[in-house]
Amino acid sequence: MPEQTGAAAVEQAGEATPFAARTGADAVVILDFGSQYSMLIARRVRECGVYCELLPHDAPAERVAALRPKGFILSGGPSSVYDAGAPLIPEYVFASGLPVLGICYGMQLLAHQLGGEVAPSGEREYGLATVVPVPDASPIFAGLSGELPVWMSHGDRITRMPPGFALIGTSANSPIAAMGDGDRYVGIQFHPEVVHTPAGKQMLENFLLRICRCDPTWTAGNFIDGAVAAIRVQVGDGRVICALSGGVDSAVAAALIHRALGDQLTCIFVDNGLLRLGEAEQVVDTFRRHMRVPLVHVPAADRFLDRLEGVVEPEAKRRIIGNTFIHVFEDEAAKLGRIDFIAQGTTYPDVVESASTGHGATAKIKTHHNVGGLPPEMQLDLVEPLRYLFKDEVRRVGLELGLPAEMVYRQPFPGPGLAIRVIGEVTRQKLDVLRHADAIVMDEVRGAGLYDELWQAFAVLTDTRTVGVQGDFRTYGHALAIRAVTADDAMTADWARLPYELLARISLRITNEVRGVNRVVYDITSKPPGTIEWE
Ligand code: XMP
Repeated sequence: MPEQTGAAAVEQAGEATPFAARTGADAVVILDFGSQYSMLIARRVRECGVYCELLPHDAPAERVAALRPKGFILSGGPSSVYDAGAPLIPEYVFASGLPVLGICYGMQLLAHQLGGEVAPSGEREYGLATVVPVPDASPIFAGLSGELPVWMSHGDRITRMPPGFALIGTSANSPIAAMGDGDRYVGIQFHPEVVHTPAGKQMLENFLLRICRCDPTWTAGNFIDGAVAAIRVQVGDGRVICALSGGVDSAVAAALIHRALGDQLTCIFVDNGLLRLGEAEQVVDTFRRHMRVPLVHVPAADRFLDRLEGVVEPEAKRRIIGNTFIHVFEDEAAKLGRIDFIAQGTTYPDVVESASTGHGATAKIKTHHNVGGLPPEMQLDLVEPLRYLFKDEVRRVGLELGLPAEMVYRQPFPGPGLAIRVIGEVTRQKLDVLRHADAIVMDEVRGAGLYDELWQAFAVLTDTRTVGVQGDFRTYGHALAIRAVTADDAMTADWARLPYELLARISLRITNEVRGVNRVVYDITSKPPGTIEWE
């Protein structure tokens, strides 16, 4: 059997009933027919204040019913309705009497299964097109008129609408660009979820609020109330530990669990000596002083750095850091006595992604995205209160819980920290040099107002030494690289076109202020072919 991906894999991995997911908010179900944009539909729906889950197209009826949806969205997908074994809309969707929005392949299925006609087409229509709504024909276009730019990506097209349907939008290349039957079914040939369809968000909101009549009550505040209640039910009077990394997800998970359980939560912060300037202090300050969360701060730099001595190979560094983390964490946890649960900042994309890579959706997180992985022999139940949230939702929840904006909007930072930004052997002296240079990069990027626009910006200490002249002296120092990228997710990235003036200031400050660096270069490699980190 081919390996399942996306929502299908979540289903196959036996995902349990949503944890703290609904909090009473109205919901819709998105059935995933395999489009690359399915996850994006889910994000857009949430942005409209409506809870949704992305489920595989053949999700069992009970699973769907458990969410008590007020409507369905059918995603696009790569199939043709004429393919042998093409995925179809499950019967329960029709039987439910609920509104259905079919997007692209989802629309073709509506036509195919309700008695219309879909014509196979050898050619794909791919790219920008223009759709003109038929005036007052459907609430999906409420507030919209004239020529609307939309993103098309389809092969087959609809040649006859099912009985009872009317044309609600036209475009030059697909005469039936949108169809509907009043308040029940809407089909659109284009993709409202992508940025290339600027009015798409409005259309989705129209579907959710006007056609499904959802209340837009999916907000950070409501989520917190529901999650607090659910955490109390799950944990009872048990004790929970949570590893803080300085990153957003673990910080928000900890703050949320603390709101629910108070001192039943203990956070462990392993300071591995590989963090950036001032970072460890900020974690301790925020959690211990401001939020009064019981926090064990473990200064473990020596344990990490001693074991990294002489190691140059990046994957070996990662393994050592991961294993050392587990040992330190276990030692500290053992000192706390009885512990029943471990908290993790798993988020919705992690759930879908780890399921689609064939790993069970529970209890395993790729080491790549984790502080160091879960100690394998630790038999603790998981508390994962962010399991159904997207990153932007995690951030909003964090702000609402009172975490500082600086922490909530922090750029991603790799678990192995500066160890994979010191090329070659990691030493205390090199870490000091890098930390200092990195702080200058951050300072200047923030000063230029570019921090939030960049996915990541940082310094890399190369192991190349170059000749320079500083003052009247010849120097032989390190070459330091600046890396700054823009990205939507870390799968691909583009090198950031930073202004020359900014680069000049960074270079001048680093060569003046950081001893040991006499040359600064800017990395102009995108991903692919490069990766974001140098190691
Ligand atoms: P790459 O270098 O693979 O990075 O393009 C993609 C994203 O992942 C981060 N990254 C890591 N995160 N452990 C982590 O927790 C790691 O070993 C690791 N390596 C890379 C990187 O910072 C970027 O955001």
